[in-house]
Order: sequence, then structure tokens, then C-alpha cells
Amino acid sequence: MKSFMNKTAYITGGSSGIGLSAALELSKAGANVIIFARQKPRLKEAILAVQAVQSVVGQKFSWYRMDVADPSAVKKTIAKAVKEFGPPDLLINCAGRALPGEFEEITAARLDETMKINLYGIWHTVSAILPHIKKNGGHIVNVSSVTGFLGIYGYTDYSASKFAVLGLSEAMRSEFRKYKISVSVLCPPDTDTPGFATENLTKPEATRVLSGNAKLMSPESVARALIKGIRKNRKMIIAGADTKFIYYAKRFAPWLVDFIINRQVDRVTARQVR
Ligand SMILES: NC(=O)c1ccc[n+]([C@@H]2O[C@H](COP(=O)([O-])OP(=O)(O)OC[C@H]3O[C@@H](n4cnc5c(N)ncnc54)[C@H](OP(=O)(O)O)[C@@H]3O)[C@@H](O)[C@H]2O)c1
Repeated sequence: MKSFMNKTAYITGGSSGIGLSAALELSKAGANVIIFARQKPRLKEAILAVQAVQSVVGQKFSWYRMDVADPSAVKKTIAKAVKEFGPPDLLINCAGRALPGEFEEITAARLDETMKINLYGIWHTVSAILPHIKKNGGHIVNVSSVTGFLGIYGYTDYSASKFAVLGLSEAMRSEFRKYKISVSVLCPPDTDTPGFATENLTKPEATRVLSGNAKLMSPESVARALIKGIRKNRKMIIAGADTKFIYYAKRFAPWLVDFIINRQVDRVTARQVR
């Protein structure tokens, strides 16, 4: 997809953070933007901001309340959106959440919740949309994270969900080629969003120390990297130079990454044990 002019984008999690910044960029680029999330006040406020930066007359904007973890709600809401605005040319699955904590504090119920939002949410949304876009093709972006290729202290449930997003997306990319649907994965580093502020409330000390290894990005920069990645039809869209460095180091010198991380973690945990 080289141009977004007159294209229709559906964005789950489009009312805040990275999803909202993507919605703003796409509005500026001339796309019709439809956002989905659970909380109505944030949706309403977000869509006004998205509409305010539109670039051509006649662009369409709307929002729907939808919990991606609820498959029947997703099916119903997507059917409604398709009826009103037509099928999307671009779907960005950005709804997600992280609640850092040590493995021993994370209950099975919490793991279940994380998976239902971060992984099953993508599954349900793509399942609902695929029948509508099979004929004419399109582009799907699933949002993973640095923790989708590097297991990080304090993110056991989150990392499990985001690693799964990579596998799911790679298999989808292969299967959906026959429909001319591209599938990309976005891997942002720590990004300054409302979701990140919530994460910081429960981060273990070791997680905080490791966070310092990559620069905090703005959601606007992540959204710009996302748009560039879609235009270039990249399979992996890795936002930020530090994140790219970590990605390639993990692939080509995993022992070095382990060495650095273990040293940082050991320093913190040794203090805690003493
Ligand atoms: N910020 C980071 O440091 C960072 C780094 C790497 C990856 N990511 C990933 O990037 C994505 C966006 O993160 P963010 O930091 O921008 O988060 P954010 O500011 O908290 O925004 C999350 C968005 O997802 C929606 N959402 C959450 N749960 C949902 C559900 N069950 N159904 C529908 N919508 C839901 C939220 O709206 P409602 O709450 O109203 O539903 C909101 O619109 C997530 O997938 C996250 O894992 C973030």
C-alpha cells in the first residue's frame, strides 16, 4: 500500500497511545479512519482529534465500542462497521495491555486475560474481517513488542502473548498471500503512552533497569515507523534504532545479549536477596 488516500483503516486500540497516533497519521494521509476500543469517552475524544487533522474533504471517521477479547461482540461490531463503511483496506490490531510483575505474582487468571486481549483479540478481529477482505486484498498489521522477540524480566505473561503474535502473524502472512493480503508485525520499544504510564506502576526494579537499554520513543515516532513499514510492505516493522540493534544482536549474538542482561538482572536481584 503506497498511498492511504481514500483507503479505509480499522484500528483496534485506536483511542489511545500508539493506536491513536497511527489514526492521526492515517487521517493526515487522507484515509477514512474507524477506531475500536472499550471506553466510550476516550473513543469520542480520540475521533474528534483524528478528524481535526484530516487532509481532504469527504474523509470518513467513526468509532465503535468493542472488546477484542469477546469473539461474539467482535463479530457483531465488525459486521456493523463493514455495513456502514465498507471493508477495510488496512487493519491495525493495536489493542493490548501489559501489567508487569514477577512470574510468582501472576495468576493463571491474569495470564488468561493477557492472552485473551493481546493474542485472541487479534485472532477474533482477523476472523471477523477476513471474509470481507478476501476478495480485494489488503494489509493487516499486528502489534507485538520488543518482548515479542526477547523475553524480558517482569513480562512473563506479556512476553508469551507477544511472542505468540509473531508466530501467528508469520503463519497468517504465508496463508493470506493467496488473497493478496499482506501481514506485518510492529515491534515497538518502550513508548510514552498512557498504557506505558500504567505499566510503570507495577514494574519490578530489574525491569526498570532493563528498560533503560532502549530509548523511550514517542507514539508519534512509532506511528511514523509503522506507516513507513506498511508502505514498504515490511514483514517486521521494528521501531527505533535501539530496537533494531537489540533485534539483530539477539539474532546474531544471542550470547552477548544474555551476558549483558544477566549482568544487569544479577546486580538488582543480588541487592534484593541480601
Ligand atoms: N507503550 C509501550 O511501551 C509499548 C511497547 C511495545 C508494544 N506496545 C503495544 O502497543 C499496543 C498499544 O499500546 P499503548 O501503550 O499505546 O497502550 P494504551 O495507551 O494503553 O492504549 C491501548 C488501547 O487499546 C485499547 N484496548 C485495551 N484493551 C482492549 C480490549 N480488550 N478491547 C479493545 N480495545 C482495548 C484501549 O482502549 P480501552 O481501554 O478503552 O479499551 C486503548 O485504545 C499494545 O498492543 C501494546 O502491547 C506498547
